[in-house]
This record gives sequence, C-alpha cells and structure tokens, in this order.
Amino acid sequence: MTEGQDHDLPATSLLHGDARSRDGAVVPPIVQAATFAADTGQEFLDVATKSFSDNFYVRYGNPNQTQVADVVATLEGAERAIVTASGMGAVSTLALTLLSAGDHVVLQRSLYPGTTTLTTDLLARFGVSADVVSQSSLDELESLLRPSTRLVFVETPSNPLLGITDLRRFAEVAHNAGALLIADNTVATPLNQRPLALGADVVWHSATKYLAGHSDVSAGIIAGSEELMERVWRTHLTVGSVLGPFDAWLLLRGLRTLDVRMERHNENGLAVARYLDDHPEVESVYYPGLTSQPQHELAASQMSGFCGLISFVPSGGAGRVDSLLDALRLTTRAASLGSVHSLANRPAAMWSARRRDQVADDVDEALIRLSVGIEAKEDLIKDFDQALKATSPT
Ligand SMILES: Cc1ncc(COP(=O)(O)O)c(C=O)c1O
Repeated sequence: MTEGQDHDLPATSLLHGDARSRDGAVVPPIVQAATFAADTGQEFLDVATKSFSDNFYVRYGNPNQTQVADVVATLEGAERAIVTASGMGAVSTLALTLLSAGDHVVLQRSLYPGTTTLTTDLLARFGVSADVVSQSSLDELESLLRPSTRLVFVETPSNPLLGITDLRRFAEVAHNAGALLIADNTVATPLNQRPLALGADVVWHSATKYLAGHSDVSAGIIAGSEELMERVWRTHLTVGSVLGPFDAWLLLRGLRTLDVRMERHNENGLAVARYLDDHPEVESVYYPGLTSQPQHELAASQMSGFCGLISFVPSGGAGRVDSLLDALRLTTRAASLGSVHSLANRPAAMWSARRRDQVADDVDEALIRLSVGIEAKEDLIKDFDQALKATSPT
C-alpha cells in the first residue's frame, strides 16, 4: 500500500483509485469540454506547459481520462498510465515514442495481428527491423537480440492461441541485452496478472476488451514508470489518439465492476474449457487454466486466474465451424473479446485475408476463438451441447 492510500486490494482500488470521484458527486461528472478557461496569463502559461495537464486542452488531458488512468495505474502497480482512443492507438504511440530508424525489435509469433502489422509492415517503412520469436524459446530470443534491439513485444496469454510467455525470464534476457520488455496485458487483465511486477517495463491494453467489458467503448491504456510515461505523453500530444471524455467515463464505469466480472469470467472460462476438453467431438482446446495444457504450470506461476478466452478446434474441419456458430443461441458471432456477452468467431476468417506473413500459419482454419461471457455457465454449456449435437458429423 502506498503512503497515504487507505486500500491495497484491486477490488477496492477499482472503486477508490481515482481521487476525483470523492469530490462532490459519487459518480464523477462527464467533463465534455475540449478546452478550459484560465483566469490569468500566468495560469494559462502554467497549464499549457505542465506535463499531464488535464485542464488545458483535451489532447493534453481531461479529468475523465485522468480518473481512468489513475485507476489502471494503481491496478498495474505503475507510477503512471495514459489512456488512448484504442489499443492500437496505445501501442502505436508507445512504439513511436521508443523507436527510431535503425532500431530493431523482437516480437512473438502468436500476437494480436495489429501489433505484428505495426512492427513488420508500418514501422519497417521507417527503418525499424523486426524478428519473430516463438513464445516459449528463450534460446531463440537470445539469438535474435542485437545491440540495436530496443523493444521485445510480448502478449501473454496471446490472442488467439493462448500461448504463455515466461515474463520473468523474457524480461531478464531482454534487459541483459539492453532492450525493454513491452507486455500486452489485454487478455489477462491486471486482476489475473501484473506484468510490471514480473519484470516488464511497460504494459499496455486494448481497454476495449475486459477493462471496459461491455462491447460499447474503444479505448487503450499504456502504463509504466513516470519517466517513460512522460516521454509517451509528449508523443501522444503529437499522435493524437485521444479518448473522448464520455468514452473515458464509460470505461471508468466498466472498470468499477472488473473484479466481480473477472471472477465470473475466470470461473466460466475454466468450466467451458473443461467441458470442451472432455467432448469427443472437440479435437483440441487451448486454455492455460487446464492442468493438461503444456504451459499450465508456467501460467499458474504468473497468473492468478485464466480469464474467459478459449480457442478450440471441433472435429469436422472448417466446414463445420460456420454451422456450429450458427447453432449457438447464447454466443454471438462477433469480433472482439472480454465482453459480458459470450462472443465467438473464426480467427482464420477474420485475419488470414489481410495477413500473408508466417504468423497466420499457426492458426488452424477450423479454430474457433470463444470469449466466454458472464452468463450462467450451466446455460452456456447446455448451449454448446445442443450446438455440437445439432452439427455432429457422425
Ligand atoms: C490482445 C489484443 N491487443 C490489442 C488489440 C487492439 O486493440 P483495439 O482494437 O482496442 O485497438 C486487440 C484487439 O482485438 C487485442 O485482442
């Protein structure tokens, strides 16, 4: 617990991690303002030149953005966080802060494709080179690191294959080579895993997913040390991936229930994964919470829960997937994850048309990515049971 703070557990920080909600209304007001009045010339100069100013101009900051950022910084154990208009806005702002022409980065093979495209395609046009490392190989990581390597991008669990990266060891190896470890904590959330405590230098999120939790907001978060975040904030002023005040307010409202939502997502995820794992018409299941999974012990050593994201391959091949998704009554076919509603899709259909690199090869054509929501697990399992029966190839 930090000095002067009267709480130390995430469930409480979610409600009390932002000082401003204690002033006046229990629910913070939406400050729907793009600019703020200064009473004097000196005051104008002060707010215009102060870092993280949230009462000057909305691109610099806004009280609703500060409230959300403070709550997430507390959860992640970061000195400071910055909120952006999307997860891609967060990682793009971060990369543009920390990289220059001639720099090299290493990224995981199983990674959200937007992060891969940012590094291997977009930043490549500006003289940044990239190598791809398999998630479990420290030897491979060591062999890829060079004096010009600035960043190692990891995502654990990864989307969509739920691979686990050993954050402690990856951080150690990256640091020995003078590189920073950048962790996408979208799938785990800070309630299940705190990458900064495990050695990562910066953590970022698609807050569109579990943090907001209701499929109604696009947002991103970057969190780390005061020194790094000051540099990121200066780039943020130029990149301009600005979260609107109302969306920041909605994100804060979603965050208030993160603890109870994640408890249910963790419980439902494990129950549905076990059900699928036992089903004779499911060929493979990817879920790090199952004790039978090769990376379970590593996952358990750095996570306290395993969230609601499961990938699985039903028997019958890609031809069965669409009819199976059609037959589900409680799970909606949709992109995204981390919502209170169960969502599922076929990642190969979502991404392969746009991605020709080697990363797409890992994803089976028949893989279904399922984001288990907070419905009653018994109902979800019953629904999968009827859908698997209705589409049985036998
Ligand atoms: C793990 C992960 N990271 C980052 C992103 C990108 O976030 P956003 O869609 O909010 O830009 C996504 C989106 O699906 C994701 O799943």
